[in-house]
Amino acid sequence: MTDSKTIVVGITGGIAAYKAVGVVRLLVKAGHDVHVVPTEAALRFVGLPTWEAISRNSVTASLYDDVAAVRHVALGQAADLIVVAPATANSLAKLAAGLADDLLGTTVLASRAPLVVAPAMHTEMWSNPATRANVATLRERGVVVVGPGSGALTGTDVGEGRMSEPDEIVAAALRVLEASAAPAVPARDLDGLRVVVSAGGTREPLDPVRFLGNRSSGKQGVAFARAALARGAQVTLVAAHLAGEVDVAGLAVIDVTTASEMALAVESAAEIADVVVMAAAVADYRPASVSETKIKKDAEGDELTLRLVKNPDILAGLAAARRPGQTVVGFAAETAPTRDELLELGRTKATRKGADLLVVNLVGWAAGFGSDDNTVVVLDGAGSVVAESAGSKRAVADAVLDEVVRVRGGGGAGVGGAGEPSPSA
Ligand code: C5P
Repeated sequence: MTDSKTIVVGITGGIAAYKAVGVVRLLVKAGHDVHVVPTEAALRFVGLPTWEAISRNSVTASLYDDVAAVRHVALGQAADLIVVAPATANSLAKLAAGLADDLLGTTVLASRAPLVVAPAMHTEMWSNPATRANVATLRERGVVVVGPGSGALTGTDVGEGRMSEPDEIVAAALRVLEASAAPAVPARDLDGLRVVVSAGGTREPLDPVRFLGNRSSGKQGVAFARAALARGAQVTLVAAHLAGEVDVAGLAVIDVTTASEMALAVESAAEIADVVVMAAAVADYRPASVSETKIKKDAEGDELTLRLVKNPDILAGLAAARRPGQTVVGFAAETAPTRDELLELGRTKATRKGADLLVVNLVGWAAGFGSDDNTVVVLDGAGSVVAESAGSKRAVADAVLDEVVRVRGGGGAGVGGAGEPSPSA
């Protein structure tokens, strides 16, 4: 079992509802958070206490319970998967028509989750052209139909229409869940391009044991490197003191310590690069002199004054020197009290640095650095907002790379390319 998902199990009004108890039980046993939504008719076959006990969640069939929690859409929005078992002929017709006259109907309509149905009915109803058409409509929309099988039906009838066994339904449901969770195959839209990414935080030595540094973990830069590799690029990562090991097949890693070392490494890699992403937190200043020996507090007394000198701005230098067809992306990690002030700082930086794109993010004592998520606004060289992204650092990297592809006119080495530097060059 992988991680726990939210699964809605719709129960409609057929005798096979008793078998659906097994479906709910197996999904709970597999570690999922299961919410049962029965129809009123289903409750005539199996009562509410059974569903609550088996699913370990509260259950209602009514649209009008818990209205404040907007239950009629909340469950559908939260669901990773919806399974309707048993699905009667009537419920298949309602699903095909998109009717929302009960809690199950609204839940399904309000959801983007994949839908699995397990029909159960008498043979004549299953073979009726109306049911055939409804099932065909549902299949066309991507609904997965499990069964029905053949066997004993209610009464003395025997034939096609018997609901599949709980383990078959659950196996199919879990396959659908797994397929929907699998990451989409990334577009190879950086195919053949050379991408240089800087990541981490530089360290400026004061003496043999001390340095001036920053809290950058390098996670965002590493996410860029991984995303660019997945999109077909040849990637060089210039890494300054990353928080963890980077063991990524096919990634060239150059380790550096100071801003000057980073400048040398990035500038030389950039000579043949199509895209440069400066995600590293580069020290703006370095100590004017580095003590050969450990600075002693006995010699300095109660106050120690450090004299710092400015480091070269690698990003601004790259942007100014970029070749036709080369795309340069910078970062602006800012501490600002409001979004407007953040964007204002970003706009000023975008025009000063001259990069094609500037990724602005809010950092502070708790935000940005070190976390697995990020929230960014992407500006163009003139400071206009061209994209926004929030989520995992990988998702943010992909959103920014989408913009890189757009700026370059789409496609990898053989397809398009910017040709000319932007007016801000
Ligand atoms: O000016 P500021 O440090 O906020 O700019 C951040 C952007 O500039 C980042 O992309 C960072 O990698 C880059 N930078 C640089 N060289 C410096 C300082 C920052 O390339 N000396």
